[in-house]
Amino acid sequence: MQLPLKFFFGSIFFFYLSSLPFVSLADDSASSTSFSYRVEPTPIPPQQGIPQRLSVYEAYRGGDCHGYRAKEISSTEQGVIGSLELIGSPCYAYGTDYKKLFLNVTYETEERIHVSIRDINSTQFQFSSRHDVWDAPLYHPSSVNQFNVHYNFSFNADPFEFWITRKSDGEVLFDTRGHPLIFEDQYIELTTNMVEDYNIYGLAETIHGLRLGNNLTRTFWANDEASPLDQNMYGTHPFYLEQRYNPVNDSSTQQQKHTSSSHGVLMLTANGMDVVLRPKYLQYRMIGGIIDLYVYSGSKKPQNTITQFIESVGFPQMQQYWTLGFHMCRWGYENIDEIIQVRENMRKFDIPIETFWSDIDYMHNMRDFTVDPISYPREQMIDFFHDIELAHQHFVPIVDAAVYAANPSNRSDDSYGPYYEGIEKDVFLKNPDGSLYIGEVWPGFTVFPDFTNPSVQDYWKHGIHNMSYALGSNSSDYIPFSGLWLDMNEPSSYCVGSCGSELVNMNPVHAPFKLPGEPNDLTLNYPEGFNLTNETEYASASSASLSQYYATATSSMQVVYPTAVSEGQQPKYDINHPPYAINTEQGNHDLANHGVSPNATHHDGTLRYNLFNVYGYGEIKVTHKALTDLQPEVRPFILSRSTFLGSGVYSAHWLGDNHSNWPNMFFSISGMMVFNMLGVPMVGADVCGFQDNSDEELCARWMAMGAFSPFYRNHNQQGSIRQEPYLWASVAESSRRAMNIRYSLLPYWYTLFRQASYDGSTLIRPLFFEFPDEPSLAGADRQFMVGDSLLITPVLEPNTTTVNGVFPGDEDTVWYDWYNHTAIEHKPYENKTMDAPLEHINVAVRGSKIIPMQQPAYTTEETRENPFNLLVALDKQGTAYGNVYADDGVSLTPNATLWVDFSAESNKLSSASFGTYNVHVPLANVTILGVSSSPKQIQFNNNSVNSFTYSDRTQELVVTNLDKFTSAGAFASNWTITW
Ligand SMILES: *[C@@H]1O[C@H](CO)[C@@H](O)[C@H](O)[C@H]1NC(C)=O
Ligand SMILES: *[C@@H]1O[C@H](CO)[C@@H](O)[C@H](O)[C@H]1NC(C)=O
Ligand SMILES: *[C@@H]1O[C@H](CO)[C@@H](O)[C@H](O)[C@H]1NC(C)=O
Repeated sequence: MQLPLKFFFGSIFFFYLSSLPFVSLADDSASSTSFSYRVEPTPIPPQQGIPQRLSVYEAYRGGDCHGYRAKEISSTEQGVIGSLELIGSPCYAYGTDYKKLFLNVTYETEERIHVSIRDINSTQFQFSSRHDVWDAPLYHPSSVNQFNVHYNFSFNADPFEFWITRKSDGEVLFDTRGHPLIFEDQYIELTTNMVEDYNIYGLAETIHGLRLGNNLTRTFWANDEASPLDQNMYGTHPFYLEQRYNPVNDSSTQQQKHTSSSHGVLMLTANGMDVVLRPKYLQYRMIGGIIDLYVYSGSKKPQNTITQFIESVGFPQMQQYWTLGFHMCRWGYENIDEIIQVRENMRKFDIPIETFWSDIDYMHNMRDFTVDPISYPREQMIDFFHDIELAHQHFVPIVDAAVYAANPSNRSDDSYGPYYEGIEKDVFLKNPDGSLYIGEVWPGFTVFPDFTNPSVQDYWKHGIHNMSYALGSNSSDYIPFSGLWLDMNEPSSYCVGSCGSELVNMNPVHAPFKLPGEPNDLTLNYPEGFNLTNETEYASASSASLSQYYATATSSMQVVYPTAVSEGQQPKYDINHPPYAINTEQGNHDLANHGVSPNATHHDGTLRYNLFNVYGYGEIKVTHKALTDLQPEVRPFILSRSTFLGSGVYSAHWLGDNHSNWPNMFFSISGMMVFNMLGVPMVGADVCGFQDNSDEELCARWMAMGAFSPFYRNHNQQGSIRQEPYLWASVAESSRRAMNIRYSLLPYWYTLFRQASYDGSTLIRPLFFEFPDEPSLAGADRQFMVGDSLLITPVLEPNTTTVNGVFPGDEDTVWYDWYNHTAIEHKPYENKTMDAPLEHINVAVRGSKIIPMQQPAYTTEETRENPFNLLVALDKQGTAYGNVYADDGVSLTPNATLWVDFSAESNKLSSASFGTYNVHVPLANVTILGVSSSPKQIQFNNNSVNSFTYSDRTQELVVTNLDKFTSAGAFASNWTITW
């Protein structure tokens, strides 16, 4: 891991390194018997914010608004331009109406149309003009005209209404008819009519089943909250996919058949917004900005519509190969010895572990870019890094967005370089009066880097590098960690507004709630069904937990129903309490509650109000650049909690601080599906659950399902009982079995990632993506596909040893059981009950697919050194197709790549290689499913192969010992196998 030397010898580097607290403390500690190096934070009371009455539950205020009249419209081959004039007097729904608007409709690509509506003088904030903050391929459209695009734009002039149709079938994709446009300074309303019982997906991030339904208010306001059903969470992606079904008459069968189509809609904004889903319409209610609406005309295949969308926000980055291994984390590894112990135990129980994660435990007093000198001492960390590097394992530490605000009256805070350097470079968010914005996070009162400030780049890179040294870098060109984990980057702040402005002399202060694990007599929650199956465990765990405290008891968890707010119709021009109160989840719905408030100000004077939802994205981008500066050849690995449109270009995402319970496991399926649709394919939940106590059964099931997530990490919270997979025998067994499958499928996973980065292909795929004409699959989210070949049917409830699932397709579709290789007997769409013992997860392989595999080993690197195998699952016609992609697994721009196409038909399997990357390991075995009779002879190219077995019962042909023909590399030359 190389990085350029020139960077490190800045003067600040030495100042801040030599003054890091750990240097002197390490010396003191030798002569001291008790350590007081951890400061005792001062308690401060929680804050609530001003109660807001949610506008979405109020009587509709737009009733007196009559919309706009189109004037001076000119249509060209590239689009439509004109102005819109307010009809009648201002209606003051939730602000002041603009009298004149500018309409600009652009045909941007064959499938994408852009409708932009802004006030004529451009006084409203225009997110789409801030390419310094968010840039995307969207801004570089191709050259198209009205004749070659796949959609039509139509409008009525008075009042102005528009609708967009797909040319090929006349489907109306977006239609404002009957709904007046409202365009005010702090409120914009745009409505589209929807078809009956519509199927839409996306509008993330929220916890909800896959299909959103027609009775939901989706709020877009980046928010630190763990598992609030249906409400706003960490990320915002205002895009939806719509899937429609139309009956077709098929006289040949009695069954009603359908044909389907899909399209997509994006509202590009970083402002706060409610999107109101109702039976007949979908309504955008934005509290600022302008209208930048993009409609994607879509395709028969949902995946193609998703490709159109992801292409416009950016295809996801390629991941490093090792990131596909198993990750283990716990907030509560109090020292490096605990992590070393986990490493040894995982080995002892023969459960693979690729990556060790550190939550805030490793930090010194929870401050960014510092390392606890006693619990994570540098000398010991150097040894640890040495050991894991030799074993091809990895380490990823957490970094929080907020930076501790040094207490000016406490001299020992003087050494906290990340604060003073940020002050010197002037990179923190401000209050409107120019003073520092000071909120509150783990370490106490904090400041927040302004990731839109050009100076923040050097600052952040410097912090990352210094942390690298403190952790255990033993030379200035060595970065000991393999990626960074960005947390709290909505950003979260535990108080209301700049609460530390007058109080920073009290720092460090304690978070205004008990931290999990702090003394209290509360017991933790267990998943449902727990008492029935885990009594022994419960007894020991609950006695242990008497000394543990668990609480999500922040002020935000109290249910406070909004009360009095002034009802006046006059606009208030209030930034923190806009006239339209969006349905944000935090207590009291005050926009400044539990996050950095809307009036915080960026370096150029832009209010956070207008860039609210893009903060985490900014941190991702700056971190990505810092990592590529430090290691130019290496694909950065970043895991971020808050995300925005296009985050997948730079980052992975985990589904946040979920709970150890069955519903959270279930909802993680739709969470993964949706992030895959949004171009963030490297996604997964905290397996076994983060908050509360997991139990054996839940953890056994979840470790198995997690092995089929792109990002596979077990993580839990301080104070909860531990949940490393070796702690329960059944969890260990379930993990070993599922990981054996996962690691054997690494070439398949990696190929899926390559496809995702190439065209936005989803890895975790809803069933309807592969079987789009079947309406009963529109909401199917208890099963999922990995790519187009594997169907996973996890158990999602306790106390059962069976699971139900469907096997989609028609009478000709064949599904094979992963384990016994036999064709699964089923009728199309029958809800079939399958055996599902605790340590088993049902996996089916789709006939017609060829899956590349390798013999699994303890790490991904060791697996890469093992021979390849192919699993050929023939369909009823005896055909199958597949491919594999390979490169060095690390490089940002690999100097050699390899694609191999496989096809099987007429008793012949062919492999055709393209590219120069050499997979040096041989091909060992080929397993062919669905071979109807015992072959007479088998040939590899022109050589007879004698090593094979055939089973009449399973119709399975296994050809072995192929390595002798492929010793130069499994795909070094093209080959055929005939039988
Ligand atoms: C209309 O919008 C397009 C981008 O979609 C832009 O290129 C063009 O300059 C705009 N036209 C006017 C007159 O503002
Ligand atoms: C827009 O600008 C024009 C010309 O500068 C000015 O006359 C007009 O008053 C402005 N309108 C508004 C609503 O600010
Ligand atoms: C719509 O959702 C609200 C809030 O969850 C619920 O109270 C109401 O009953 C729902 N309405 C219908 C028709 O389902």
